[in-house]
Amino acid sequence: MYTHEDLSNLRSNSLKLQGWIRQQTFSPEMEKTLRRFSSWEVSELIFRVNQSTFRGKLAADPSLPAGEVEPDGRQRWFSLDEINELRRRLKINKKSLLPYRPSGQRAIRCAIANFKGGAGKSTVALHFAHAAALDGYRVLIVDFDPQATLSHSMGLTDVSEEHTVWGIMARDLIRETERMNDGPVGAETGAALPQRHLPDAITGLGLDALRVGDFIRPTSWPTIDAIPSCANAAFVEFASAQYRHLNPDWSFFAAVSRYLDQIPDDSYDIILFDCPPAIGYQSMNAVFAADVLYIPSGPGYWEYDSTTSFIGQLSEALEDLAYGFDTTLPTGNMALPKAFYDIRFLLTRFEPGNDLHRAMYDAFRKVFDGHVADSAIEMTRAVEQSGRFLNSVYEMDYRDMTRETWRRARSTFDQAYEEFRAVLVDAWTKMEAEQ
Ligand SMILES: Nc1ncnc2c1ncn2[C@@H]1O[C@H](COP(=O)(O)OP(=O)(O)O)[C@@H](O)[C@H]1O
Ligand SMILES: [Mg+2]
Repeated sequence: MYTHEDLSNLRSNSLKLQGWIRQQTFSPEMEKTLRRFSSWEVSELIFRVNQSTFRGKLAADPSLPAGEVEPDGRQRWFSLDEINELRRRLKINKKSLLPYRPSGQRAIRCAIANFKGGAGKSTVALHFAHAAALDGYRVLIVDFDPQATLSHSMGLTDVSEEHTVWGIMARDLIRETERMNDGPVGAETGAALPQRHLPDAITGLGLDALRVGDFIRPTSWPTIDAIPSCANAAFVEFASAQYRHLNPDWSFFAAVSRYLDQIPDDSYDIILFDCPPAIGYQSMNAVFAADVLYIPSGPGYWEYDSTTSFIGQLSEALEDLAYGFDTTLPTGNMALPKAFYDIRFLLTRFEPGNDLHRAMYDAFRKVFDGHVADSAIEMTRAVEQSGRFLNSVYEMDYRDMTRETWRRARSTFDQAYEEFRAVLVDAWTKMEAEQ
């Protein structure tokens, strides 16, 4: 018979050998680097200008970044940093190439959520992050899923749980508990709240000393940062239940929202949340911190069915939160009940030639009237997962596959992204109008 002690011994053995095993099995391809982009891509797909106009602009000003020339001399290849410098310095027909961003506003936050695994959440999050970065935006990705698909896809594999959303939540518990203990009073009664004491197991982790930036990691994309996740962060779901017990007044669902409020407004433009396929403390934090909810769903009947049950469960959970915490507990800058600027369903893995998929697209539009993205994301071989790692179509070099496959894949994500950007800009406008 085996008990928790045996499991604990097995774990200790694993930890002793983990470094060695990593060394033995680590391959250099796991170190992600970002490729360069050709002058064809930069002009026609990124800046959306004529290739000869672009070449003319470069020729006219030798101080502009010139990229690297291919051995056959036909194309120049630019790094994203160079592309962003060009974006800042070039004007085409007197128009700036910088993307729209309302001044004086914080970054817009979008949760990509569905409780169904395999709905395409991580794929959508990865592609939207890359499309937005190529569009000139500065992006922060928060990986709420301990399966960490997105973190791995961004090349972040060496992550400890203190530096995940779990760490953010536990740090928030410590800070909020201190604030309540020091703080004045319950809003309604005027009476002091009872003093709460957290065990050393929580206060002794050193989380309190972590600064906002300590959770944020750079990625191989110079304008994308990430708060990654890792398998150990799955523990959060279990631990958070105990935490709520330790301080029932803690608005546990607002921890990440409060954390994000501490990031200077101008650090990022877009913050994307990749959600776990379950309702729980992490996913409620994601949803609560989000301005916009994007719900990817596959095009099958069962996926429609589980998407329906997802919005049902979510609605109940949000209703519970709306009335449990509305009097005594400030939730930071977020009001209760939680309200989104927009909610959108996005069909993924869609095959335009498949009658059932088309019927499902029509059904979605009929049922979720006005909330369905026009452009579904098509099924494409270009993004099929290679092992644990997802590479976006933007990261792939078009010379490595048939140009047609690459273009089709890229255009389906481009179209979905453009609609997504319009939704975010609209949400930003509403946010501005509220002030
Ligand atoms: N548009 C697409 N075309 C082809 N395969 C896709 C597409 N979107 C997602 N997939 C594949 O479906 C699987 C699940 O996608 P993923 O984004 O990880 O879902 P989730 O994050 O919702 O669990 C992955 O293997 C992924 O490569
Ligand atoms: Mg995922």
